[in-house]
Amino acid sequence: MKNKLYNYLLLISLGIFLVNITACKENKSKKQEDAVVVSETSLEEELYRPNFHFTPEANWMNDPNGMFYLNGKYHLYFQYYPESNVWGPMHWGHAISDDMINWKEQPIALYPDDLGLIFSGSIVVDTNNTSGFGENGIAPVVAIFTHHNMQGEKDGKLDFQTQSIAYSLDEGFTWTKYSNNPVISNPGIKDFRDPKVIWDDKNKKWIMSLAAGNKIMFYSSTNLKEWNFESDFGENLGQHGGLWECPDLFPIKVDGSDETKWVLIVSINPAGPNGGSATQYFIGDFNGKSFELDKKFSKQLNEDNAVWLDYGRDNYAGVTWSNIPETDGRKLFIGWMSNWEYARDVPTFKWRSTMTIARELKLKSNKDKFILHSLPVDELNSYSNKTIKKDKIESSDIKKLLNDSDLDMAKLNLEFELNDLKEETYNISFYNKEGDTLIIGLNNLDNKFFINRQKSGKVDFSEKFAPNTSTVSMQKGMKSLKFQILLDKTSIEIFLNDGEIVMTELFFPNYPLELFSITSKDKTFKIENLQIQEFKFN
Ligand code: FRU
Repeated sequence: MKNKLYNYLLLISLGIFLVNITACKENKSKKQEDAVVVSETSLEEELYRPNFHFTPEANWMNDPNGMFYLNGKYHLYFQYYPESNVWGPMHWGHAISDDMINWKEQPIALYPDDLGLIFSGSIVVDTNNTSGFGENGIAPVVAIFTHHNMQGEKDGKLDFQTQSIAYSLDEGFTWTKYSNNPVISNPGIKDFRDPKVIWDDKNKKWIMSLAAGNKIMFYSSTNLKEWNFESDFGENLGQHGGLWECPDLFPIKVDGSDETKWVLIVSINPAGPNGGSATQYFIGDFNGKSFELDKKFSKQLNEDNAVWLDYGRDNYAGVTWSNIPETDGRKLFIGWMSNWEYARDVPTFKWRSTMTIARELKLKSNKDKFILHSLPVDELNSYSNKTIKKDKIESSDIKKLLNDSDLDMAKLNLEFELNDLKEETYNISFYNKEGDTLIIGLNNLDNKFFINRQKSGKVDFSEKFAPNTSTVSMQKGMKSLKFQILLDKTSIEIFLNDGEIVMTELFFPNYPLELFSITSKDKTFKIENLQIQEFKFN
């Protein structure tokens, strides 16, 4: 850690030195300009390139798209603009991984064409060749995406978004667009996009969920080419302070039972629980035609108006992987770790945006509620290098423990006995000697968990980035509070009570945050359990 800081300071001085010499000369030579770029880039790499979250090597990325698994490989595609570090004409970038942690970027998968830019969508493995795209016994992999026609948009038309398909016969590396695109033309709805397709095994049909302004539309098909409208959902349900985008409908076993329920994930922008982009979900049943809310879940909605997958400000447009083998059976999710309120302004330049850690979703049920839990995928644990475990630790002893932990690639597990806590605020701070501090914690006065990134380093690149503390209300009457905190160079992902509540946020410190403390006016509290897991990634 010390070496890291030293290297970092060295890089800064080198950067400043190079900026100075170039600034002194009126006629900067090309070589010197390059030198400045190189030094700034290595500084950015050192300070902000995540240790274990996916970023493209260069340029702009947003939503995850078309994730599927096949023959030992997890595929991740993403909204990508290869020519700039801000949003522009969308392509699908591509990355593959053996474990959803270590990603290798691949050549661009889909390019814009005459019908438009390539907006978000999904991919299915058409095992039975229902589409007929298969050849010589090879099952086609089929991408279903939105074509966004820029000219149509400019001309003020309503029908500029349509749904199209493409297929791959080499497991998702190269693609052929279908000659009869689009497969769903626009019925006159301005925002008509982000098709997510699943195979409904009971009804033997493909089902597409599509975002259509303030609702979700469901379509069905037997061959992925011809689609029938079935029903729509949600016009008067859940949060509606923004546009509905990136839906995902899928069945899931209720944890610990044989009951199956259907989850409908819907991203919304803006109007998230702490501002800007966020993702809500609904629990119900799907009969092959329409999605009906479960009664118990309806009551939850009456109380809370919306139920959120993540209460932090930086998890958007996330959807689940398709074609996960039944022997695995997990529902695996990844989200875009940013927020449209400031995504274009975050202070990285070579690349912009990061994905969340891949997460496993589980549906749990109690007498009053259904809750969709998320936790980091188990695969992350195979990168564990060292684990420190302590029971009943006094807060003042924590510092000693953490002296040489790498807090930018670690998972912390903490447990508090809530009965022992006073009506105080318990602050968990990650900081550096220069004063950048990210504070998370429990406000036990008004029963809220919070993230405060207001002094976490660079924040003034956008006034929307850190105007407030992000909060989530905790259930009353809990005996203990357990949480996992996943830390990388620019992100914190907090999973409370086995992933029942999740908060994901970005931060951009001026120097690495390498110190850690837990403080409160209450000097007597103990941490029931502390476990620090350090990772190693190469
Ligand atoms: C969500 C979104 C999608 C759209 C894509 C465009 O972040 O707005 O609705 O398909 O981004 O890049």
